Amino acid sequence: MIAITQSLALVGLTGHLIDIEADIGNGVPTFNLLGLPDAALSEARDRVRSAIINSGANWPNKRITLALSPASLPKRGSAFDCAIALALLGAAEELSLDRLRGALVLGELTLDGRIKSVPGVLPSIRSGALQNITRAILPTENYQEGALVSGVDIFHFSHLRELIAWCKGSDYLGDDSLSSSQNASASPLVNFSEISGQESAKEALEIGAVGGHHLAMVGPPGVGKSMLAERIPTILPQLSEGDSLEVTSLHSIAGRISPNAPAPLISTPPFIAPHHTITRAGLIGGGSATISPGACSLAHRGILFLDEAPEISRPVIESLREPMELGEVTLTRLGRSATFPARFTLVLAANPCPCGWSIGKAKRCTCSPLASRRYRERLSGPILDRIDLRVELEPLSQSDLLRTGESSESIAARVSSARARAAARFHAVPWSINSEIPASALRSDFAPERKALSLLFQALDDEEITVRGFHRIQRVAWSIADLREEDVPTRATVDRALALHVREKL
Ligand SMILES: Nc1ncnc2c1ncn2[C@@H]1O[C@H](COP(=O)(O)OP(=O)(O)O)[C@@H](O)[C@H]1O
Ligand SMILES: [Mg+2]
Ligand SMILES: [Zn+2]
Repeated sequence: MIAITQSLALVGLTGHLIDIEADIGNGVPTFNLLGLPDAALSEARDRVRSAIINSGANWPNKRITLALSPASLPKRGSAFDCAIALALLGAAEELSLDRLRGALVLGELTLDGRIKSVPGVLPSIRSGALQNITRAILPTENYQEGALVSGVDIFHFSHLRELIAWCKGSDYLGDDSLSSSQNASASPLVNFSEISGQESAKEALEIGAVGGHHLAMVGPPGVGKSMLAERIPTILPQLSEGDSLEVTSLHSIAGRISPNAPAPLISTPPFIAPHHTITRAGLIGGGSATISPGACSLAHRGILFLDEAPEISRPVIESLREPMELGEVTLTRLGRSATFPARFTLVLAANPCPCGWSIGKAKRCTCSPLASRRYRERLSGPILDRIDLRVELEPLSQSDLLRTGESSESIAARVSSARARAAARFHAVPWSINSEIPASALRSDFAPERKALSLLFQALDDEEITVRGFHRIQRVAWSIADLREEDVPTRATVDRALALHVREKL
């Protein structure tokens, strides 16, 4: 007897359906599993056998052959456990697979038969839905995540015993009321009002939030660089529905959606702040058996904050060039490649020199000129050249300290109306924020005022800016224009964008 169930393997965000075919025949009792390349998969045999026995089902003492196809796809070990167990029991005529028609089965088994959560459920179900999958059998722990996709009926189980009973015809006992806690949006715990002074940094952050422009903050320790960065998400608009699903999918593959999360949908732009010891694989993605997204993809549609950026090794930080240029990253591993979106806003923070004190009235820097230069050189040219806005922060004066800052809510309102202006302007083009205006469009439909451009040509001539900078400044000028409610960037606006671009200590 032959029986087939379906599961799915992810390559990047794309799912490939996997057929799991079980064949049970007479002969010497054996248990062969074919089409499972990675080492974790041989363990699948033991888990499945033990889980079936511990669920009270009969283990067929026959010649069992299980094949996962197509064999060429990379397959993670554990997500196929449930589908393997069901195919096997179907072939043994222990149960009917009628209820699994058009169904995707995902779930890891423990030796005692419990069904454990697996990563990547959301992108798996989204992909399945595009390939005629109409129902999904999921671990209970992943139920909320699967339920984010419309058009696929979700059945969730926490023990193989219950799943077997359901296949045999018993009523479905899953508790759909679990989903009622969705949409609970977490209130942000931090606010710009907590930050005194640093007005020009705040201005740059606001402009950056309007257009998605990359930004660097340079200043001595303790002036509020980290505080400012952490508060950026509080002034950004919420993600659109499509972006929320995509961002949540990336976090799901990375195993960052906790099991049983009551409201797993990420609708606030992510803020990802890796430590400066991060590796290249950690930053752009990688892995062994399967390819996982890195920090730059987890920061997709949000902020990638690199604190103490000069401490990051040069090859690691330079690996950001590809995602910054393309908005996605393609990773190759053992001849296989996966692509993840990575459209993030980069925010760098740095001290001006190793001791940190070459900025400020007192200038109590103790670094040698050579040490300072080496430190600055660690932030490589290629990355700095892709930074739109550069701000220098100074120690707070006493009067600054006494002032409370403007609230995140009121800054967010300005950002939101500026974004609306941009969106209206971009109604007929495929991009929606200023940082994404192509260079060719800056020369035609989206050019600043003529007399404003002459400023930039002068700066180019003086080698104050690069050609890349020339374009970047114009995009920033559009964001400033949107905040100032100008229809086109004026000379004063472009001047401001230029000043925010070149003012740098690095
Ligand atoms: N502008 C500021 N307004 C209010 N508090 C500040 C400000 N700058 C620094 N602080 C205080 O100093 C601490 C360190 O700030 P932090 O943002 O970590 O500085 P940096 O990242 O520049 O070293 C904060 O936790 C906060 O208590
Ligand atoms: Mg800091
Ligand atoms: Zn110094």
